[in-house]
Amino acid sequence: MAKISSPSQSSPSGAKHPVSGFVIVVSAIAAIGGLLFGYDTGVISGAILFIKQQFSLDSSMQEFTVSAVLIGSVPGAALGGILGDRFGRRNMIMLAAIIFGVGALVTAFTPNLDILIFGRIIVGVGIGIASFISPMYISEVAPKSIRGTLVFLNQLALTIGILLAYLVDYLFIKVPDGWRWMLGLAIVPALALGIGMLKMPNSPRWLVMKNRGRQARTNLVKIRGTQNVDAELQDIHQSLAKGGSSSWSDLLKPGLRLPLVIGIGLAIFQQATGINTVIYYAPTILKFSGIDSNAISILGTTGIGVINVIFTIIGAWLVDRAGRRPLLLASLSGMAIALGLLAIAFQLPQLASSLGIAVVLILMLYVASFAIGLGPVFWLLISEIYPLNVRSKAMSVATVANWGANLIVAVTFLSIVKSLGRSGAFWLYAALTVASVLFTYFLVPETKGRSLEQVQEEIKTHPLH
Ligand code: BGC
Repeated sequence: MAKISSPSQSSPSGAKHPVSGFVIVVSAIAAIGGLLFGYDTGVISGAILFIKQQFSLDSSMQEFTVSAVLIGSVPGAALGGILGDRFGRRNMIMLAAIIFGVGALVTAFTPNLDILIFGRIIVGVGIGIASFISPMYISEVAPKSIRGTLVFLNQLALTIGILLAYLVDYLFIKVPDGWRWMLGLAIVPALALGIGMLKMPNSPRWLVMKNRGRQARTNLVKIRGTQNVDAELQDIHQSLAKGGSSSWSDLLKPGLRLPLVIGIGLAIFQQATGINTVIYYAPTILKFSGIDSNAISILGTTGIGVINVIFTIIGAWLVDRAGRRPLLLASLSGMAIALGLLAIAFQLPQLASSLGIAVVLILMLYVASFAIGLGPVFWLLISEIYPLNVRSKAMSVATVANWGANLIVAVTFLSIVKSLGRSGAFWLYAALTVASVLFTYFLVPETKGRSLEQVQEEIKTHPLH
């Protein structure tokens, strides 16, 4: 089991990281990257209904238009890894904001379908970059005692972004060319992110890596709200000195293999356990259960979005208290139970009349379980387990795996339902969830209450290292 030593035993200097109001502002601004990730993935569910009419799309073209964002996010995540160390976290978030803004304008003013799809791929590139650079930046500026909560803020913004997208879709249903507004309104958070980040400091950890020690100290003093930052800076310098160079091939060195397996494994499990079959296809799943009123379907989908937000807040409160492992294991167990129930529900035709309500409730249990753990904890852990010298590259690899798996699940869901049946499909996701419980139990370390530098020291004592 992946239990490792308590934080106080392995702290290099025992440095305390005080919590300032400023660090909360910095994290909240960076989390607008998460909001755009959520908004831009959620908004298409409503917009596609009108786009399909306007451009007379058949079902395969509809699927392609919906997945265009995912096609962009895989290279976007890779690009983030290639440029992240050179230009720094703050500049990369600003680059993502520009890409989000350009994508919003291209899709809103598109003269035809090709340019619309091209614009959605651009948006995807922004999502690929922001999806991991925002949590990485927050994790690097956060004091260790509330790092989990602050990185959860990014996922909270993401879930609010999805909900906001549903709301905007609803508000523009009756407006002529409303889909252009739905896609184009992403310009508002994109501007807020770009302008907001102009005033935010560079990550002190990145500055140390770039040999800009004096600037790193100035920024850390500002972020911590105290002059007393030398011990923390010393830990960062020491850890960097141990890490050495940072090329892509370093990721395969013995010391980094285990964290790489953990990151890629969690990335794939986060998607293979089926969350986006629910986020992208909730109305379809509700239709499977016999609900054919559009109003109830929209209400059910909105309810699922609200649960996603509420349980992310509860998770944010718990993550620095209970720790990452307990939250992840509880989350995966809840998801496995919900998926099993869903599979059983679709096997029992005699329940047909009450099936709709039961399915909505089970989907809520499933999303609540995801939101409290697996959703945010994946992004949090990959921002914690890699040494500074390779953090950006390693997070980028895990993020590429996450978006790749997302794309595969999104394009195979309906064919899996066709070949295995509704019940068979959910049994499959349930089995994969059980596999991820075992993966987590045996491999994932606890990182609560440790500085990023301690986490990397402690991973070396992992029994499977
Ligand atoms: C996942 C997304 C998912 C979202 C739902 C994120 O952590 O990476 O794929 O759509 O959570 O809230």
